[in-house]
Amino acid sequence: MQYNSADIRQKFLEFFKSKNHKIIPSASVVPENDPTVLFNTAWMQPLVPYLMGEKHPSWDKLVSSQKCIRTGDIDEVGDNSHLTFFEMLGNWSLWDYFKEESISYSFEFLTSKDWLALDPKKIAVTVFEGDKDAPRDEESADIWAKTWIPRDRISYLPASENWWAAGPTGPCGPDSEIFYWVGESEFPPEWSNVETDENNWMEIWNNVFMEYNRQADWSLEKLPNQNVDTGMGLERITTVLNGEVSVYHTDIFIDITNKIVDLLWVERSPENRNAIRVIADHSRTAAVMISDWVIPSNVDQGYVLRRLIRIAVRKAYSLDYKWEFLYKIAEVVINKLGVAYPHMIDKKDEIISEILKEEKQFGETLEKGMKEFDKLVKGFEIAYERTGKKIDTIAGNKAFKLYDTFGFPLEMTVELASEKGLKVDEQWFKDAEKKHQELSRAGAEQKFKWGLADDWEETIALHSATHLMLAGLNEVLWEWINQKGSNITPERLRFDFNFDRKVTREELDKVEDYVNNAISKWCEVELVNMDKNEAKETWVRGSFWEKYPDIVKVYAFKDSENNIYSKELCWGPHVENTKTMGRFKIKKEEASSRWVRRIKAVLIKD
Ligand code: ALA
Repeated sequence: MQYNSADIRQKFLEFFKSKNHKIIPSASVVPENDPTVLFNTAWMQPLVPYLMGEKHPSWDKLVSSQKCIRTGDIDEVGDNSHLTFFEMLGNWSLWDYFKEESISYSFEFLTSKDWLALDPKKIAVTVFEGDKDAPRDEESADIWAKTWIPRDRISYLPASENWWAAGPTGPCGPDSEIFYWVGESEFPPEWSNVETDENNWMEIWNNVFMEYNRQADWSLEKLPNQNVDTGMGLERITTVLNGEVSVYHTDIFIDITNKIVDLLWVERSPENRNAIRVIADHSRTAAVMISDWVIPSNVDQGYVLRRLIRIAVRKAYSLDYKWEFLYKIAEVVINKLGVAYPHMIDKKDEIISEILKEEKQFGETLEKGMKEFDKLVKGFEIAYERTGKKIDTIAGNKAFKLYDTFGFPLEMTVELASEKGLKVDEQWFKDAEKKHQELSRAGAEQKFKWGLADDWEETIALHSATHLMLAGLNEVLWEWINQKGSNITPERLRFDFNFDRKVTREELDKVEDYVNNAISKWCEVELVNMDKNEAKETWVRGSFWEKYPDIVKVYAFKDSENNIYSKELCWGPHVENTKTMGRFKIKKEEASSRWVRRIKAVLIKD
């Protein structure tokens, strides 16, 4: 292999240092004081305050390699390029240079013989095509055209592709993405560009020109100054530099997959490819998360970590390996990433022991499940001997118990069953799973936490009040308000939402009236299962959509005349009728973090 990722990372930092940028360390993958996201998904999130005018303590031109976690594409992990953890190489201009320098720097770093020396004939770019809010980015296109990129390789694309924002409000702007040829032929045919031939180009770098500030009413304002935020995926640039098409063929992954193959005694065959890749990806993400203080749990970041470890363990099971192993893979990960992020080395023992603990615990559960499964099959055989009747289907409730108590995903039970010539009642399982999610998520866990049944009723009522309050906020303040965080105890609800100024007492009174009016109408709370996309289109309120399955549960609060007071995506549970709720009162409204407000409210039983 010609190009090593550590060298590329180093070159990137050095290049921008030579352009008067200051090298800054990566921020943690867990955002500080930002309840709106679980993880930093890009380099710019930790830097948003400086775009808005705060002076950066070190410099106005920065460069770093930032650890990023994106779990939105988790189902695509295993293909050539999607990862849950990646390193973003980025340069940053805070009120300093803009498009001209930014594009020139990108082009120089990629193509100059002194740096990466990529062939400009294999580069294509995109720029923003313009819409009613912001003009077509001819300026960037002209700057590109002055380099070696022919006009035909510059595509104009809409905001869905070429507009970048850190959040629903705040700094944003058009971007220009850089792609590299990964098609079969050595060079792209003349007609090929990102618009006409998307699949043969791999995105490697994005230059965002931040000059707007998205307001709470969705309008755009110019920021007082212009900024640049760029991001290049280290895994991808390493791939294309080596003439590869898959990130797994680079030094970033080779040691890790070698270790997996050795330890699990498996071949690198096409059937095993997905499992090996998923284990490799998830072991990196798990080690990075733990190094940034996340530990496995049932909520928030810890829940994501737990899921990743469990998926990796199951993948090993699917390769017939049933012992603890992931902690050993993590060691390879730490050695590799520790070069750039030394605190991972400092926390090596902790990372390894957390992973070992979690996989041990999950492995034991899976083992017990296997015994349960064997017992089930034995039962079928005995029944056959006794009655002469052959049972060929595992009942849905049995499959569900394997899932619920022992963590067997349905696919695994189906697979085990087919080895024994059996089928599984999958529909029953799926229905039960939906019901279960609803109860256990908001239900059993919290019930366990708070104990008493009386408290439990209070909690449910406050949960229903939260829905009505959000609808009230949408009605009184702004339709784009959404939940950014929620926490309910038997005494009060606490609710975080996106809004950029203090809410006046008059407005809070109106929100209270909205909720109390709905309560007084004795609304029934109705549950409908809906296709997720349909729900999105029909204005169902929700946040964290990506966490939900394709079929979602929507709760509607309806009065006897069918007026709807709230329609929201949720796991439940809720009161059956609002008449039991009491009187709603907002006790406090305050800032929670940038652009996020927090309300505390109670229900009073008169
Ligand atoms: N923040 C920009 C991105 O993530 C560079 O694409």
